[in-house]
Amino acid sequence: MPRIRVEVDGSTYEDDVEPRVLLIHYLRERLGKVGTPVGCDTSNCGACTVLMDGMSVKSCSVLAVQADGTDVTTIEGLGMDGRTHPMQQAFHEEHALQCGYCTPGMIMASLDLLRENPDPSDEEVREGLEGNLCRCTGYQNIVKAVRRAAGEMRDPAGQEVTP
Ligand code: FES
Ligand code: FES
Repeated sequence: MPRIRVEVDGSTYEDDVEPRVLLIHYLRERLGKVGTPVGCDTSNCGACTVLMDGMSVKSCSVLAVQADGTDVTTIEGLGMDGRTHPMQQAFHEEHALQCGYCTPGMIMASLDLLRENPDPSDEEVREGLEGNLCRCTGYQNIVKAVRRAAGEMRDPAGQEVTP
């Protein structure tokens, strides 16, 4: 069996894994990272989205062996210093969730979106998150949350930015 070494949420893991094991199953079943849910297992819903070296991936469409040597962040790796991450806080403040099943994936995909575009329009948020499905919210509050977080992450102190 191949041996992988992967950084997940700030800790290093070395494990023997079968080549067919998906990253989502490695995270949940081997590492106990059950904060990342499985929605469809067919790479359609985005619920399983995590960051791999900063880029969002649907972890049901990646083999665990492909994560060898990478740095993975799951929803459980945010706000680990005891403070809620601005994106998590914005989802809370804007009521951007109902059942919450899509939320971990939405948040991780949103962080990747802001990495590429720190100040997205409503339309750009909708386009950027089109791979993540929500059956509850109608998306409007998710868009508001992402834009609110974007503002706070650009200007965390809430100070006027001088041109
Ligand atoms: Fe991975 Fe749905 S569980 S995309
Ligand atoms: Fe229920 Fe999005 S809040 S699927």
